[in-house]
Order: sequence, then C-alpha cells, then structure tokens
Amino acid sequence: MCGIVGYVGPNKAVPFIMEGLAKLEYRGYDSAGVAVLENGSIEIRKTEGRLKKLADILEHETLGATTGIGHTRWATHGRPSNRNAHPHSDCTGNFALVHNGIIENFTSIKEGLLERGHKFTSETDTEVVVHLIEEFYKGDLVRAVQDTVAEVRGSYALVVVSCLHPDMIVCARKDSPLVIGLGEGENYVASDIPAVLRHTRRTYVLEDGEMAVLRSGGVDVMTTTGRPVSKNVFNVTWDPVQAERGGYPHFMLTEIHEQPRAIRDTLRGRISEDRTRVVLDEVHLTRDELAGLRGLAITACGTAYHAGMVTKYLIERLARIPVEIDVASEFRYKDPLVGPDWPLVVISQSGETADTLASLREGKRRGAHVIGITNVVGSSVAREASDVVYTWAGPEIAVASTKAYVTQLVVGSLLAIWIAQAKGTISQDLAHELISELNELPEKAQRVLEMEDEVKAVAKFVAEWDDAFFIGRGLDFMLCLEGQLKLKEISYIHAEGYPAGELKHGTLALITEGVPVIALATQLDLLDKTISNITEVKARGGHVTGVTMENGRELEKHLDHILCLPRTHQYLAPVLAVIPLQLLSYYAAIERGADVDKPRNLAKSVTVE
Ligand code: AGP
Repeated sequence: MCGIVGYVGPNKAVPFIMEGLAKLEYRGYDSAGVAVLENGSIEIRKTEGRLKKLADILEHETLGATTGIGHTRWATHGRPSNRNAHPHSDCTGNFALVHNGIIENFTSIKEGLLERGHKFTSETDTEVVVHLIEEFYKGDLVRAVQDTVAEVRGSYALVVVSCLHPDMIVCARKDSPLVIGLGEGENYVASDIPAVLRHTRRTYVLEDGEMAVLRSGGVDVMTTTGRPVSKNVFNVTWDPVQAERGGYPHFMLTEIHEQPRAIRDTLRGRISEDRTRVVLDEVHLTRDELAGLRGLAITACGTAYHAGMVTKYLIERLARIPVEIDVASEFRYKDPLVGPDWPLVVISQSGETADTLASLREGKRRGAHVIGITNVVGSSVAREASDVVYTWAGPEIAVASTKAYVTQLVVGSLLAIWIAQAKGTISQDLAHELISELNELPEKAQRVLEMEDEVKAVAKFVAEWDDAFFIGRGLDFMLCLEGQLKLKEISYIHAEGYPAGELKHGTLALITEGVPVIALATQLDLLDKTISNITEVKARGGHVTGVTMENGRELEKHLDHILCLPRTHQYLAPVLAVIPLQLLSYYAAIERGADVDKPRNLAKSVTVE
C-alpha cells in the first residue's frame, strides 16, 4: 500500500513530509513525490526509485512552502515510472492529489474526461480523480472533493491541496487507512501512524465515508456527504516499532489481519456489476481460445505452489480440463507439456523467484501463453508474462506468506470460474453462488479472525510438540500442505500434510499418544470419510483438532478441539480455513520464542536456484 504524508502549519512542509515518508519506507514502494504550495502555485517534484533520489532532487531547491503533501507509491495501475509517481495534478495546475487504493471505474471516468478535453500525463487510475476535482470545482474545494468521491467506485485514501486554498488540506477515506495528527498550531495527515508519531500521539482515525479539512488552526471532520462528525481523539500508546506494524507485534500478524481488505481489493473490478460473471480483462485469451482450451499447466514455489494446487483443483472441477502442476524447480527439467495450445500459469508473490522465473521463460520459449499471477507491479514475472493478473495484497513483508496466499486463492478461484463460464461447463446457479460467496469472503474472513483466542489455545498445545500432522481430503489436503509449511517455517516444529486416506499406508505408525493432528474437514461431501480417518487417529491416541464449517459440527464429538468457521461454498473454503492455520503457526512460534518475521535460513524472495 502507498505511503501518504501531509502537513499544514507555520513550518516548512518538505522536511516534515520527507521525514514522514521515511517512516513509511518499510511498507515497500517504487516511487515517491511531493507537492507543495509555493508562492501562489503548486510545485511538484517526483521520481521513480527510492526516497533518497527525491531528497537529492529537493536538496538543490529552497521550497519554503508551509502546506504540502507527499507520497510513496506501491504501483497498482501503471508501471513504476516518474510520470506514474504521485502527486498528480489536473490540467490547470491548481490542484494536486495523492491516493492509496484502487479506483475501480477509472476507465469509464477517463473516457469521459478525455472526451471533454482533459489531458492526461500518466497511466494511473489516480489521475482521473484530480481531473474530476478540477471539473467539479466552483470555488469550494471541500464540495469539489465531495462531488468527486460520489463519482468514483473502489478504495481510496485521497489527500488534496490547491493553490487556490493555500492554507488547507482536504482528505477523504474509503477502505484505505488515513489518520489525522493533531499538533500545536499545525496539523498532519498520514496513511499510517508512524509518519506523525514523533510529532503527536493525538490522532483522529478516519472511518470509511469520512473526510477531513486540515488548517493550521484546526481540523474539521465530516462525512463525504457533508454531515459534520465529532471525532474522539485516539491517543497512540504504541512504541515506534509497534506503530510500524499497525499496533501488532509482528508484520506477520499485521498481514494476517489485513486479509479481509486484501481479499476485497483483489476482487475489485473482477466481477460484473450484475454479479453474474467473472471479468478478467487482464488475460488476453479470446472467448474462442478459452472455449477451445484443452488443458493448462501451473508452476510456482512454496506457498504459491500450494495456491496453485487449489487453483488446479478448481479449474479441473469447474472447467473440466486437465491441469498439470509442478514445483518450478522441477518444471523446466521435465520437458514440460506446454506450448501454443497449452498455456502456463505462474504464481509468485514477489515476481522474482528464480525457479519460477526460469519456468516462465521456458514456457515462453516453447510458445506457451504465460499468465503471471503476482503481487508486485513491475516485477520480472509481471514484465515477462504474456498477461498478468495482480493480487492486490499490498506489500508483504513477513517472510511467511499469508495475505499473498489468500489473494492467490482468490485469483485462482476467479480464473477457474472465468474459464468454466467461457467453456459453458458451469451452471449459472453454481456460478452465481460462487460469485456471491466470493463477495462475502472479506466479511467472513473478518469473522474467522475473531476466533484468534481459540486458535491461540490450540497453538499453546501444539507448541509443546516437535511433530505435528495435518490431514484432509480434496481441497482440505491441499490446505494441509500450506498449514504444514507455515508451522515448519516459523515455529520449526516438524509437520507433515497428508491425504487423510493415506495415513493408514504408513504415517499412522507415527501417531502416538497425544501427538497433535490438525484435521481439515471443510469438504463436507467427504466428511464421513474424514471422520473415519479421525477415528483411526483417535484410536491410536492422537490429539485431534478439527477445522470445519458451521454445517460440519457433527464432527465435534470425534475431536479434542473444534475450530468452526463461517459457512461458505466448499470450493472457497480454503480462503477461510487457512486463517486458523496461519494463526496456529504464528502463536506456536511465539510460544517457542522463534523470530516470526525473519525465520532462520529463509529469505522473503528466493532469487537464486
Ligand atoms: C511462504 O511462506 C514461503 N516463505 C515461500 O514458500 C514462498 O512462498 C516461496 O519462496 C515463493 O515465493 P514467491 O511467491 O515470491 O515466488
């Protein structure tokens, strides 16, 4: 997610903005810029690259402005570049704006603005907003922003300045965070508390649908429809380290809790307005090419590979075509079956994993259409794939992948439904049910997060053991693989994920008195089979924690502990069922004193083979 900082007061704005942006650097970004109100006009300085590059540009200038805004960009629409960097300005140069979020309907808005003669300088979705403000402006900046946000759909944290109102910053929030820092004779706005913490601990946290007008003498908060809002001051008690993590002790826990927002953002613009169709315009395969698809291949590493396994399952179940999947370190050495009529899907959070990149290049060498699913705009996967479908998880900093995995599952589900609809292999009822359930995932994921204390109790038990087993059938088995990897990589407990029906062919020999077994049972059409596997484990003394959905409660009498999730379609259950597994691994690692964000021997992006 992008970093935003704004200052209005008696002092120079640039030093405050640059210091604040530096405090947000940990979030990851690809470009940076500032806009300040200098001598009756707006001065914008922005550049691709690191903050240092922007600082080098600014150090040769004497910008005495006392009102200004700054931004560090995590690219979504439009590759990292100078012209796509924020702030963006309108045709008149009277307004400058920074934004964090995704404007879903920017294409249609941009078409209208172009028809009305507006000139654009960037490829970003953001730029349409500042041109709308220019259009709506009739002397009242607050009203112009209100009229503008009424036109846009999507997520935004918007911060606007104008040389026509030099003592004012106007900001508005929907789905992307914005905090107001309350100073003495000066006020601040930021996307995150660390940016203002050195200057104030007194803040307003804007809620969705709220906006604020900052002047040096005070802050007015209202709804974006103009109704005044009286805000309680949120006194920040966090230390700077905690503040960087949104109040959580580790990035991993922050990112686990960001998953509802990440799911929501990843779904944006990919479901038709009437909620009957998946829309994946990023993939340039024609309907005939899709309808004629005889199969495809998937390759990835680690957690991304596990997301690929779920994607394989869903494409085969819904689109009725075979999907080959291999870990990327094996894929290119097996003379893979990809080519002009056999596309390849590569999945990579970083977009830089060496094995995955090499497999992408091998697929292209063989003439395959390569679809890249990645979280990083401008990454090697994004640049080299034939098409790229982004996960909008935002920067993932913890080594253990959580929100990226969940958004990979969302994209995988969308891809499966999209192909099935093109091939006519999915009924309208099932498509509508899946699409409706996809839209409910953010809220249901939030409900799963509220089970954190229940999971913590299980984690305390698991943490006492050096071995743990995950069992499940169908999609639950694929989820076991992700659960065991999470537990291994951050708590260092040895864990194995197994098809529940496979235990009796050997691994059952390892089930001794009390050993922890996590039984995933969300695939309710296989529940009876899973229950018999659970009873096999119980008969040998294993301690079984079951993960199921509300309609799987009959499981409870067979278990030592049950984690019961909100009900969703079982094809989408992995998106919810992985959350307790992530929390289990996190709290087991805490119990064992492991370094959660930087586990031993591991790197966030494995750029070597
Ligand atoms: C995830 O928890 C692991 N840290 C690791 O398996 C990771 O998923 C793998 O290295 C692939 O990374 P990528 O998604 O950036 O390609």
